[in-house]
Amino acid sequence: MLGFGGIPIRDVSEEQAVAVVNRCIDHGVNFIHTSVTYGDSCQKLSKVLEERRDEVVLAVKIGGGRTKADAEQRLKETFETLKVDHVEIAELPINARDFPAAMAPGGAYEAFVDAKEMGEIDHIGITGHDIEFLIDAIQTDAFSNVIAPYNYVANKAEERLLPLARQKGLGIIAMKVMGVGGIPEPPKALRYVLPGTIDTAIVGMSKLEEAEENLRIAEDPEPLTDEELSLLREISERIQREGRLKFSGKITQSHAEGVTRVILSNVRS
Ligand SMILES: NC(=O)c1ccc[n+]([C@@H]2O[C@H](COP(=O)([O-])OP(=O)(O)OC[C@H]3O[C@@H](n4cnc5c(N)ncnc54)[C@H](OP(=O)(O)O)[C@@H]3O)[C@@H](O)[C@H]2O)c1
Repeated sequence: MLGFGGIPIRDVSEEQAVAVVNRCIDHGVNFIHTSVTYGDSCQKLSKVLEERRDEVVLAVKIGGGRTKADAEQRLKETFETLKVDHVEIAELPINARDFPAAMAPGGAYEAFVDAKEMGEIDHIGITGHDIEFLIDAIQTDAFSNVIAPYNYVANKAEERLLPLARQKGLGIIAMKVMGVGGIPEPPKALRYVLPGTIDTAIVGMSKLEEAEENLRIAEDPEPLTDEELSLLREISERIQREGRLKFSGKITQSHAEGVTRVILSNVRS
């Protein structure tokens, strides 16, 4: 249920990154998500994978363009950087504008299909930040899993995306469960998404204390009480009123603004 999100380890030492990932795997995390677009996340993860590849499902985001050649290049770079020859899940990060080109002959999707045929990947997934687009995209039946932003503020996915993905038998992976570190009440944020509607929450973790707290929660994620749910509703309403989340200092302004847009455009109306 608790998966490892590979972004924040780019900001800590290799020693710390390896310790956090190992602690997570020791305590049952068996799903790791990363991308060569996340700084040196893949290099750091490769240090763990050289010992523990068999213990985890690897999901990688293959960004960098709409064409088959772009995706082939990015897949190659991903395998080389992670020092693996196979991943369980490769995700196409895409938006509505670029989707037709990516799915057309010569588009990025073809590279994923070829890689699957060659046994380099097992499953093709889709990811994006626009929930309405993801709903349309999964109707094509071209993908076996979806990664979508989902937290107690940005909870639009609950209305149609999650039920549709479940009905179609897709794997459901929630990202930005902690609002990129800006969401109040992190333990409750994790408990909000864990039981029920999703398969895995890929939470970004780069500190042992946070990983341990998340692992404790994931071991036995108690459903939120009515009182706790109403607290989260109040916080969510306040965030929407103020039009922003409070972000931790290390996130760049443009990242914060981008995420704020995501958070606000995905809140349930
Ligand atoms: N389209 C895509 O496919 C896509 C796009 C973006 C991200 N992702 C994936 O999704 C993962 C999750 O996204 P994210 O890492 O950006 O955001 P996130 O999981 O919402 O937030 C991660 C941050 O939450 C904070 N945190 C985690 N556990 C905590 C705890 N117990 N208590 C307090 N704070 C806690 C940490 O912030 P501090 O370090 O500030 O304490 C951490 O850096 C990424 O790592 C990446 O693997 C996928």
